[in-house]
Amino acid sequence: MQNTKVVIGSDHGGFEYKEEIKKFLLEKGYKIIDVGTNSKESCDYPVFAKEAVQKIINGEADRGILICGTGIGMSITANKFKGIRAALCGDTFSARATRAHNNSNILCLGERVIGLGLAIDIVNIWLNTEYEGGRHQKRIDMIE
Ligand code: RB5
Repeated sequence: MQNTKVVIGSDHGGFEYKEEIKKFLLEKGYKIIDVGTNSKESCDYPVFAKEAVQKIINGEADRGILICGTGIGMSITANKFKGIRAALCGDTFSARATRAHNNSNILCLGERVIGLGLAIDIVNIWLNTEYEGGRHQKRIDMIE
C-alpha cells in the first residue's frame, strides 16, 4: 500500500511520535503530508485534526494519522466530520479490526500512553489491513 497518501498531524503532546512515525513511513516509501505541529511548543489539537481531516475530505490524502498526548482529543475532533471514521488504538488487535470492520480512515495514537515500538507496529498493521466490506458496510452506512 506504499502508494497510499498519508496525512499526519499532532499537537505538542504527540510531536515526537509524529516525527518518528513520519521517518518510518518515508523509509517505507509512503507519500506523506505533514500538517504540523512543528515543535513541542504548546498548541491546540483541534487545529491539526481539522487540517488533516480536510486533506482526506478533499482527496489529497487517503488516510490520516493523528497523535496527541492521549489520542482522545484528536479522535473526538476528527469524528465530528462527516465521512471520517477515526479510531483510537492502543493495541495491534484493534488496529487490524478497525480497518477490517470499520474501514477507519484515521488512526489516532496517544504518545503519553503507549511506547514508540508499539505505536509503529500499530501504524504498520493499520496501513496494511484491507477493509472486509460485506456485512460491515451496512453498519457503516448506518453511521453515515
Ligand atoms: C495536551 O496537554 C493534551 O491535553 C493533548 O495532547 C491530548 O492528550 C488531548 O486529548
